[in-house]
Amino acid sequence: METVLSGIRSTGNLHLGNYFGALKNFVKMQHTDRCFFFIADYHSLTTHPDPAILHGNVTNVLSEYLAAGLDPDVATIYVQSDVPEVTELSLLLSMHAFVGELERTASFKDKIRKQPENVNIGLLSYPVLMAADILQHRATRVPVGKDQEQHLELTRRFARRFNQIYGVEYFPECQPYVFSGEGLVKIPGLDGSGKMGKSEGNGIYLSDSDEAIRKKVMKAVTDSGPTAPDSPMPEVIANLFTLLRVVSTEDTVQHFTDKWNRCEIRYGDLKKQLAEDIVKVVAPIRARIRDIAADEDYLSRVVRQGAEKARESAGKTLADVREIMGIKPFGRR
Ligand code: TRP
Repeated sequence: METVLSGIRSTGNLHLGNYFGALKNFVKMQHTDRCFFFIADYHSLTTHPDPAILHGNVTNVLSEYLAAGLDPDVATIYVQSDVPEVTELSLLLSMHAFVGELERTASFKDKIRKQPENVNIGLLSYPVLMAADILQHRATRVPVGKDQEQHLELTRRFARRFNQIYGVEYFPECQPYVFSGEGLVKIPGLDGSGKMGKSEGNGIYLSDSDEAIRKKVMKAVTDSGPTAPDSPMPEVIANLFTLLRVVSTEDTVQHFTDKWNRCEIRYGDLKKQLAEDIVKVVAPIRARIRDIAADEDYLSRVVRQGAEKARESAGKTLADVREIMGIKPFGRR
């Protein structure tokens, strides 16, 4: 059994790419592995969000996770700032993190470019806090996208360095988790190329209204249509078919595939069907998100339960690390 940890920054809403890419896998994985899912609100502070919206963002992500099927009785679902142990572990780890190696991370260099007026220490030590997130549970698998692989590499380096300096085999080396196997699809965006992403603005969100979904799908990029029976399918159209295969019935997929093959396809019809089938997937999730987000009592129970489990796990690690580093309480032999 692996210990899996997944973190998400508390900005932005989840889209179909997150849902079919990672979330559906998390929902399964929570039953087979020791899983932690947390919302990285401390990390969000490195870009100074408006205090008035921070809590709302956390509520959104949490509600969407729960609506998608993460079960707080099975997995540990928590908010980063509810587990103060992580800040102490981060401080302790920072004693063995070098300014030079942190300055060289791609994300830090990127931030310097993007917010030159706010190059704060939190940005520099972002990877140390992230390492603490991971190492506090001694996680072995961390699902991340490409942009986070360098951070994982640093986490492994910090773990190795710690073990080496203190002559222990304490921290495991975490590996990036790449989902594989059946049912895994890269969800393309609606703008013709590439995958669905937050920054690309090409996504359909779990919180989108039916109308918004229909509008976005109808605006998806297409071409002028196949001209010969064996003409190759361009990427923009293949993307629509990929989405169709994820949300529609086999009959529907077959129907439009035949139409394409016979050069009789009408993209308007395809998109209408696709939009309705996406609506069928999203509408019930959206309703659950709305109900969950409105249920303060439930949410507070969930985060309290999550924090308790996460603190128990983190507390054990922290006690070990303090001891390994030579911080010992008086009055104990
Ligand atoms: N840095 C991650 C991101 O931007 C969020 C994150 C914080 C994280 N701590 C983590 C991800 C620990 C995985 C493990 O998406």
